[in-house]
Amino acid sequence: MSRTVYVNGDYLPEEDARISIFDRGFLMADGVYEVTSVLDGKLIAFDGHVQRLQRSLRELDMAAPVDMDELLAIHRELVARNEIVDGLIYLQVTRGAPGDRDFVFPDPEETPSTLVLFTQSKPGLADSPAARVGMSVISIEDVRWGRRDIKTVQLLYPSMGKMMAKKAGADDAWLVEDGFVTEGTSNNAYIVKDGKIITRHLTNDILHGITRAAVLRYAREAQMIVEERSFSIAEAQDADEAFVTSASAFVMPVVEIDGVRLADGKPGNVATRLREIYLDESRNTAI
Ligand code: PDD
Repeated sequence: MSRTVYVNGDYLPEEDARISIFDRGFLMADGVYEVTSVLDGKLIAFDGHVQRLQRSLRELDMAAPVDMDELLAIHRELVARNEIVDGLIYLQVTRGAPGDRDFVFPDPEETPSTLVLFTQSKPGLADSPAARVGMSVISIEDVRWGRRDIKTVQLLYPSMGKMMAKKAGADDAWLVEDGFVTEGTSNNAYIVKDGKIITRHLTNDILHGITRAAVLRYAREAQMIVEERSFSIAEAQDADEAFVTSASAFVMPVVEIDGVRLADGKPGNVATRLREIYLDESRNTAI
């Protein structure tokens, strides 16, 4: 069944949606995005995603295409029109289509940014069977650019990382730079040792996950100890547990790293508990 998508002010059947071949998102990956999950027809952590979008736009001197109240209205309209119960909403803003290819940014007065949103229906998103068995990851070198804190649409290397994982028979890849894990291809990475939750500190080296912020807040509220610092693959393989977080996976246990099973090879208690807390709190605060 065809979805209704949003393109620059219009709600259209997906097959009628059009973007210029000169759009800088297409030619230059000159665009930013957000992914917001929907549970029971409501948006999870919407404010966090909008705030990060505003920051991404600011960091790239890109104009906001609509105000943030309008964005909420568009999200809700798409949920309603597509009858989304559980799923994801993808939003992308690019620097628009100046009508030719040029490395120089176009004048925002003459070239409005492009705004596109679409839904992905995922019934039972929060009941993923993967959460009960856990994921396996491989480690690969992190060769992405130096501003990973900006959520740009330059997703070729994360995509290659997923393919490398798939080829190796694993579910995902953890990216390693200078001997330390930065993050997963599309999620933040954590280990648990002696009850302590360890995850990389926030710099331009990683995306500042909206799920990460919430999960660490809930962990601290539950009196768990959190250490924000780098860790290596060897330390991770020796950990009691590991997990990743993202808007689409919530909290997802990791049970194997580069072929080494962690502890008993089953999802750990901390990851399982944090997933429950995160899903409960997210449903309670969804809008
Ligand atoms: N990815 N790190 C990277 C590189 C990511 O791409 C993502 C999200 C995260 C987690 O951020 P958040 O908790 O705000 O979703 C961390 C989204 C889900 C995606 O690209 O589909």
